[in-house]
Amino acid sequence: MSTPDAIIWQDDQLQLLDQRILPTAVTYIAYKNPVDVAQAIKDMVVRGAPAIGITAAYGMALAARSLPQQSTTADWAAALKPAREALAQSRPTAVNLFWALQRCDETIENHANTNDLPAQLLALAKQIHHEDMAINQRIGEHGAALLQGQHHVYTHCNAGALATGGYGTALGVIRSAFRDGKIAGVIAGETRPWLQGARLTSWELMQEGIPVTLAIEGAAAQLMRQHKPSWVIVGADRVAANGDVANKIGTYNLAIIAKHHGVKFMVAAPTSTFDAHIDGKDIPIEQRPAEEITHQNGKAVAPDGISSSNPAFDVTPANLIDAIVTEYGVVERPNRDKILAHLQAASTSSATERQANVHD
Ligand code: MRU
Repeated sequence: MSTPDAIIWQDDQLQLLDQRILPTAVTYIAYKNPVDVAQAIKDMVVRGAPAIGITAAYGMALAARSLPQQSTTADWAAALKPAREALAQSRPTAVNLFWALQRCDETIENHANTNDLPAQLLALAKQIHHEDMAINQRIGEHGAALLQGQHHVYTHCNAGALATGGYGTALGVIRSAFRDGKIAGVIAGETRPWLQGARLTSWELMQEGIPVTLAIEGAAAQLMRQHKPSWVIVGADRVAANGDVANKIGTYNLAIIAKHHGVKFMVAAPTSTFDAHIDGKDIPIEQRPAEEITHQNGKAVAPDGISSSNPAFDVTPANLIDAIVTEYGVVERPNRDKILAHLQAASTSSATERQANVHD
């Protein structure tokens, strides 16, 4: 059995798998307008950095399709602005959202025929969507090559097929490594408060027959000492220019615990998750509603009036990271020079790939 697609374009509508109710129910919600798409991102119907980017691109395509024809590029840009703003304000941390919107901006600016723009934005969304699966397979191969022998690995949140266009980033590495006989078992942290590890990662891995053990966050140090995993493997929401990485809250804790136990720490992320304009300390961290931690299933689990803090992400400093793996290869022990050199090499390779596609 394989994981259902998180995002489907069908019958001129965007269908999003409602990840809030997985694995109990597999239900799709249909979207026709960009403001509802932005709300779906905010409400966690769809989540995971690459999936959010793909969804935003479809949101822009829906916006263009719902508008009357515009006569100039400037008219299109103005007419699409409210949709763009709604999507940009949905979630602040995953940079894939802004990367996808930037690609939409470039399509709006560069399109040759104004009548054709809705079709071009839809084609772009489909391209971003389908490319992501291939990118993740490449990340999977590069990451799996770093694993030696057969060991446990530790993962956090969900950086799987559900968080991407398919295959996954961290789970892509785990899928490829399992195929190569390098995974004895996966320890999945439950990931409070949304339980992406318990509900999504465990489900994805069980469907693939990859042995997975679910654990509460507080068990991480004990389990690292007991099972001696070879690597912690996580995804990312934003990789900063200095090599710091924003990812699901609790990732930083894991990196510290891993260092203490001599467990290596890998971040698997496409280059669309890199932000060369920012250092880790400046990454905007989403604060989610207090009710996510003061209540469970609508019932209070904390005293009324309690003060609380619910950051959705944290930033792991580069000096706790052994490898950042992208579709273009591996950055070992990341720092600013290595990150910028990797992005430069990636941009040269992607220009060459585009050139080769033109000649095919
Ligand atoms: O709040 P979420 O579920 O969107 O957070 C997701 C994560 O932090 C993932 O680890 C990250 O986006 C990488 S997904 C390939």
